[in-house]
Parts: sequence; structure tokens; C-alpha cells
Amino acid sequence: MSTALDAASVRLQFPILNRDVNGKPLVYLDHAASSQKPIAVIEAQREYLMHYHANVHRGVHALSQQATDAFENARGTVQRHIGAAEPCEVIWTAGATDAINLVVQSWGRQNIEAGDVILITRMEHHANIVPWQMLAKEKGARVEAVDVLEDGSLDLDHFEEQLKLHPKVFAFTHVSNTLGTVNDAQALTQRAQAAGATVLIDGCQSVPHMRIDVQALGCDFYVFSGHKVYGPTGLGVLYGKRKVLEAMPPWRGGGEMIDVVSIDNGTTYAGLPHKFEAGTPHISGAIALGVALTWIDGVGVESIMDHETMLAAHARKGLSSIEGMRFIGTAPGAAGVVSFVVDATHPYDIGTLLDSQGVAVRTGHHCTQPLMERYGVPGTVRASFGAYNTLQEVDTFVAGTVRAVRMLRD
Ligand code: ALA
Repeated sequence: MSTALDAASVRLQFPILNRDVNGKPLVYLDHAASSQKPIAVIEAQREYLMHYHANVHRGVHALSQQATDAFENARGTVQRHIGAAEPCEVIWTAGATDAINLVVQSWGRQNIEAGDVILITRMEHHANIVPWQMLAKEKGARVEAVDVLEDGSLDLDHFEEQLKLHPKVFAFTHVSNTLGTVNDAQALTQRAQAAGATVLIDGCQSVPHMRIDVQALGCDFYVFSGHKVYGPTGLGVLYGKRKVLEAMPPWRGGGEMIDVVSIDNGTTYAGLPHKFEAGTPHISGAIALGVALTWIDGVGVESIMDHETMLAAHARKGLSSIEGMRFIGTAPGAAGVVSFVVDATHPYDIGTLLDSQGVAVRTGHHCTQPLMERYGVPGTVRASFGAYNTLQEVDTFVAGTVRAVRMLRD
């Protein structure tokens, strides 16, 4: 049982929320695109840059050792936060997109062959579609997708049908960024693995809102980005089971990922996790991500999820009074995301009018064009909630949407 989140005190930790936009107090409802940052995260980066910046794993000097300790401690924080068995199963990447590309270019190029089936779902973000399509084209494999039902749930009958194709890999999102649908990641993983597939889960929209235990899920890979979990941009995480990662070749070559480099005798590679971390990493980002995950634990991720779903329900209730309102994604148990279209209006126009009132929402296809095609819409207006949003902000958003629709119809 979670304790009720006190959004008013959480807000005090986010300096950006004090600003005005277009002369109105900012109402930031674009958490699914990128979360705002608490002072603890901002300060962690500042502290590193001000007091102990140096490259990691490369120096005997004090600053390098301090930076390395903080950097590796952050890896340990990620490991514990997602329930990985060992820190070496946590690979720093440049983002979730980069993490998926790493799997595709390393595991995928090694394992996918002509005629193979790569299974995804129709609710994937482009980041979990396009890299697989590129690989399929190169290898002569094909990408198949599991359909989505009208309410935004995954079509489990179709999933079973698609498993009969014996996919080599099943890559799916834990939580849809557009629909808010929460997939039963454990059950999907078990079924796909029983059918012989390796499983990758996109956790970009789940890690900020749910407790994740990758060992309980049983997945082979789990990816998420730093900037959606109150951490910095330019940083993501690839979790992989040790055995699976060990069998994979490195993807990017360079410093740090090697054991011995010889012009005459070739190069041997470092072990995990460094084998996949060529070049100087995003050190301040990794340190700050560790702080962000600790911050989430301090607030309580269950409380955050309960708070956000309460806000989403309140928003839906208010928006329902608008004539011609169509919610896209109404599956039971969905996360704190509200996507909608309104008859005789364009999402872009609603978003622009909301912005003029200081309300930040995302409009468009949300990097999920196959979903837009599924619902026959050009895009949606999407409000997505974080720990710092309040009921009052939702009321401002609903009133602003009512006003915008009225203006667009007049
Ligand atoms: N994937 C991000 C979103 O849903 C960018 O907005």
C-alpha cells in the first residue's frame, strides 16, 4: 500500500516549475517526453563539474579515482534499482535509442539470419521499430507486429498467432508512451521465451513510474533513458543478462573497451561492462542518474504511480464534457498518460493554444506512427504526468482545452 504523495512539497524541489511561460505559470504536462529535474540531480552534476571532474578508469590521480568511484557507484545504484544480479549487467549508453541500437547491432547482427522473424508490437516507439527494420533489411529477415485492440491493450490472441512464426526476438514496450497501456511484461516474456525468442523490453515509460525487477521479469534485455526518470539527457541504460552480454561482440570500438591493442597482433577486448562502453562516457550524467533513482526511491515509486493515475483519471473526467472528445488508449490499469483527439480540431492547434496559456503538452504522433495509422488519426494531444503535477494543474489544463476547442470551433 503506497502513501499519498504530497505533490506540493515535491514541487518545491523542481526550480523550473516556478517559471512563467507566455505570461502564465508553467503547467508542465509533458513528462513522457522528458521529466523535469529535482535540485538533487542538478546539484549532483554541478558538484562533479565544480569539484571532481576527471576522466574515469584512466588515472591514478585523486580526481580520476573520485570520479571513477562515483561513476561506478551509480552503476551499482542502477543495478539495485532494477534488480539486476550484478553491476556488470548494467551498460551505460547514450540513451534508450542507443541501447536498442547496441542490441540490434551486436546481438542482432550475430543472431538474426535470412528468413528470421523479428516480432515487435504496433504500440512501439519508433526507436524500437526502425533499428529492427534496418537489421531485417540487411539480413533478409522480416519484422512482424502484434496488433493493438481498440482500447489500447495488446491483442493477446494475435500475440499467440505471431508466436507460431517462431520469432528469434520479441521486442516490446513495458508501458506505451502514447496510450499509457501497461503490458504484462512478465507474462509476455515467459510466453515469448517459451516459443524460443530472446526478449527485449523498452522500459522508458515504466522505470519512472513502476518498481522494476528484471530478474523477476526474466527478460534478456531491458532498456531505459535517464532523462525520463528525473535524470539527465544523453544517457541511457542497457540491462542484459550476463550470459547473453558475454556472448555478444562489441559494437563500438575505441578506448576503454579493449584489453590489448596491437597493430600486428590485433585487439582483444575488455570484459563486461566496459566491452560495450567505448570512449569517455557521460560521467556527470551517470552520477546524476544514480541520484535521480535514489530520489525516486525516496518519494516512493508506488506513490508516484498512484498519484499520476489519479491525475490522469481526473483529467479524463474533466475532458469528457467536451463534445466530440475521443480518448486514444483506454485500457484498464493504464499509466498517467491521457491522449485524445477532438472532432473538427487539429491536435497541433489545441497544443498551440494550450502553450499560449502556459500549459505544455505534446501533440503529434509521439514517435508512434503505426499507432496513429491503427486509430486513423494524424496525431493526438497528449498530457503526461509526473510526481510534481497537481490537481490544480490538471484543472488548468482541462479548462484550457475547453477554451481552445471553443476558440477553434467558433
Ligand atoms: N518518447 C518521447 C515521447 O513519448 C520522446 O514524447
